[in-house]
Amino acid sequence: SIAYLNGEFLNLEQATVPVLDRGFLFGDGVYEVIPVYAGKPFRFSNHINRLHKSLDAILMSFEQTEQAWLKICQELIERNDFDNASIYLQVTRGSYINRHHDIPELDKPTVMAMISPLPPVQKDWQVADIKCYSVITEEDIRWQRCDIKAITLLANCMLKQKALESGADDTILVRNGEANEATSSNLFIVRDGVMITPPLSEQLLAGVTREFILALARKNGIRYEERPIPEHELELADEIWLSSSTKEIRPVVKVNGVIIGDGVAGPVWRRMYVYYQQLKE
Ligand code: PDD
Repeated sequence: SIAYLNGEFLNLEQATVPVLDRGFLFGDGVYEVIPVYAGKPFRFSNHINRLHKSLDAILMSFEQTEQAWLKICQELIERNDFDNASIYLQVTRGSYINRHHDIPELDKPTVMAMISPLPPVQKDWQVADIKCYSVITEEDIRWQRCDIKAITLLANCMLKQKALESGADDTILVRNGEANEATSSNLFIVRDGVMITPPLSEQLLAGVTREFILALARKNGIRYEERPIPEHELELADEIWLSSSTKEIRPVVKVNGVIIGDGVAGPVWRRMYVYYQQLKE
């Protein structure tokens, strides 16, 4: 596929960065994953706003207008001729002569974007086709600033791998007895028809999909609460979902081997999923 690197479009395999790049040496960078439906980036402003929040949080004052970001993404979509895709955008602090922990004055950040296809939006999609997840819970071993979409994802990878090795699909991360999110998605539970998701904090990412689900709930009269979810409450939930730009709204039917609700995607998920699909295009 065709990728974008520092002002140029080129073959992804040919896109390389110097070993002195602080992204490579320190994981000094941030990223975004933006879904594209029918050739159009979805909830683009929200993603770009979050990217700039992440940049500010890591003390990187990289100025670029939303319009300039959009131009890069649109050209990437056109050059690759994908209708439905996800765009990965990454900004690292760039290369400097010496390896120093001091954060240097920003010179030339490394800006990279690549794109991979997503399955087509199905006109006659069936709720029944959606794969349900089985998850485990684990202590959250990540750092204390999980609100920053930093490229340093080693803990997330290890925690995801733990799930795969135990035959599950993902891991819900627990800190101080509270379930915060999964390795690359936000967490929702449903109890007695009320949707519950942990409040925003430095322990979890402010998901664009999470925010969209809350807006859909307000619009459609589904009650919700933003409050901490103690780990033991997961097993008591009628429904559990994970949400992200690429997973959309994913039902979870098993936690640590315990069946959730009726063991199938629940009725509130179904409503929310339909609202989501209707607004994708
Ligand atoms: N992950 N929490 C974490 C830790 C995430 O990495 C993500 C997204 C989310 C959901 O955010 P959003 O709804 O804005 O996609 C929550 C992306 C998709 C990834 O790393 O691939």
